[in-house]
Amino acid sequence: MWLDLAALEQRLNTRLLGRRLIYLTSTGSTQDVARGEAERDAAPGTAVIAEEQTAGRGRFGRSWVSPAGQNLYLTLLLRPPLERLRPLSIVAPLAVALAIEDETGLRPQIKWPNDVVMVGRKLSGVLIESELAGRKVRYSLVGIGVNVNFDIEESSEIAGIATSVKRELGRAVPREALLASLLNRFEALYDDPAPAFAQWRARLETLGRRITVRFRDQAYEGVAEDVDANGNLILRRPDGTALTIEAGEVTLRA
Ligand code: BTN
Repeated sequence: MWLDLAALEQRLNTRLLGRRLIYLTSTGSTQDVARGEAERDAAPGTAVIAEEQTAGRGRFGRSWVSPAGQNLYLTLLLRPPLERLRPLSIVAPLAVALAIEDETGLRPQIKWPNDVVMVGRKLSGVLIESELAGRKVRYSLVGIGVNVNFDIEESSEIAGIATSVKRELGRAVPREALLASLLNRFEALYDDPAPAFAQWRARLETLGRRITVRFRDQAYEGVAEDVDANGNLILRRPDGTALTIEAGEVTLRA
């Protein structure tokens, strides 16, 4: 039931990511553990992995359902130069999607900006928390949750909107292989993010759809026309004007 760390190590071919691993059977949130590490000058590439989170959190102050021994909950501590910060929100979901495809043959898509989905249901979410000092990134905490062997139906809160690799594939998958592939893919994309953009864009299920984007207390409606080179969403509004949106939560409209 717990992760086999030797099996993980065997499959890992990274230089940096996961070479220092903090493995916890239970914690509040891996983001908080990683933040403590970052403040204590831990090396970039440190990965904090938990079997269970009792206060897992998502974007927009939501919680992230994190039962024990079934899924992946991890935070990667990175110290990127400023120009590598924005690409992280492209690299992270793409690495998850590619890792799932490597290990299962499923072909997950991405809901802008960084949810990994299968037929509209969420498989994985990414939460990036960064600390800057002027124009220098002190650290960035890339939190990733993947529903792997989770029986979603057991969680009434998310049963209608989420899915898991197991549910999509019809069988459980070894988490070690998926995690190793995720770290391997992530590092390759992080080292050379330029080709990631086109791959990320090609997987965006959002493009061409009629959507509502909510950000803070505003809601914008229109057609998701494209993304720009920075990953911002270009929304064509009913009055014909285009709006460039940096962040927000997308809902598909009928
Ligand atoms: C989202 O889609 O809202 C983002 C979810 C991010 C969840 C992960 S699980 C590991 C890390 N620790 C947390 O508390 N959150 C992130």
